Amino acid sequence: MPSSEREKTVFVIDDDEIIRLSCEQILHKSGYRVETFGNGYEGIERLKAVKPPLLVVDIKMPELDGFEVIKIVRKIDPELVIVVITGYATIETAVDAMKMGAYDFLPKPFTPSELRLIIDRGFERWRLANETRLLRKQKEEVERKFVTLVSHQLKAPLGAVKQYLDVLLYTCRDQFSSEAIEWISRSQSRISEMISMIQDWLMLAKLDRGVLCESASLCDLGKIIEETLQEYQQIPSANEITLTGEIAPDLVPVRGDKAGLGLLVDNLVSNAVKYNRPGGKVTVRAGREGRSIVLEVSDTGLGIPQDFRPHLFEEFYRVKTPETQKIPGTGLGLVICKRIVDELGGSIEVDSKEGEYSVFTVKLPAAESEEEVDKN
Ligand SMILES: Nc1ncnc2c1ncn2[C@@H]1O[C@H](COP(=O)(O)OP(=O)(O)O)[C@@H](O)[C@H]1O
Ligand SMILES: [Mg+2]
Repeated sequence: MPSSEREKTVFVIDDDEIIRLSCEQILHKSGYRVETFGNGYEGIERLKAVKPPLLVVDIKMPELDGFEVIKIVRKIDPELVIVVITGYATIETAVDAMKMGAYDFLPKPFTPSELRLIIDRGFERWRLANETRLLRKQKEEVERKFVTLVSHQLKAPLGAVKQYLDVLLYTCRDQFSSEAIEWISRSQSRISEMISMIQDWLMLAKLDRGVLCESASLCDLGKIIEETLQEYQQIPSANEITLTGEIAPDLVPVRGDKAGLGLLVDNLVSNAVKYNRPGGKVTVRAGREGRSIVLEVSDTGLGIPQDFRPHLFEEFYRVKTPETQKIPGTGLGLVICKRIVDELGGSIEVDSKEGEYSVFTVKLPAAESEEEVDKN
């Protein structure tokens, strides 16, 4: 059926032949294409093929009643606009039907103009919902294109400039004054910050598209923690931070995306190292608490003043104290953590004492079964 025909089609399911005929006549006159059915089964079968925008269905029918029809057609087409027909005595049932997703109801007996009004309104609603869906799709497409554009047009040249500066310093260092070297080094750090910002921002865009959720498997969180800690232990840290992992032996797998969980642990550990003191400690614990897996990243660092804590998971938010402001960052790391945790159906909290410690606690649902753990 051409979509112009489909878009003006109304299905009427009613066991009462008079209602079927009158609906057909009234709506036909208003320019709608009407198909009528004497019982739910026939209507549902045909609905699968035609996918009309609107369905008028009687609540009280002998075989399959209106409620059951609504339940089934909602699954077939969540966008379908449903209008229920009820007798005077069944207004409560109409309310129940609306709770199940019917758009409006029409008490019997109804006049032609009452029917037309409700059907016109129903079609208007369908049209608006369709338009919103289309606009959302277009917006997503624009965002996706923008992300690609940013990654190629911005990240690549910045990376190149950073490399030129590296080469410049490496090959011509003795030709520069110490002041010039200082300026070049500063340029390098600013460029690195910008690259990090773009990387974090791209990651957020990826998370928005739900990319991480698509590749969920059972993951060994203990292994992810160990790998992350090893990486940090290999980088000589200026502050000489001691990193320790404490993984409970009875830890069960987490259902999630391995890259996402890695990013979560990495961001939390990166903060615990960055906002620490010389000779400070970072401890990463993972254990089980009932049906949850608890990941805890604690440090003996600068801490976070109470007033700042409620804003930590907001985009680009950074704590403005003289000590933290000197440390480079994007203010996106915790936003990324929060998105990942949300996607996995968990929670993230922070506890801290200014000048003493910070603890980030993540709770994730434990996987039900332990097979097929992602060993890679
Ligand atoms: N472990 C921590 N100790 C102290 N402050 C922290 C810690 N983790 C995060 N913060 C504060 O929260 C802010 C936001 O963190 P984040 O989103 O990771 O951004 P970034 O590290 O890029 O600044 C940081 O700027 C820092 O001020
Ligand atoms: Mg960070």
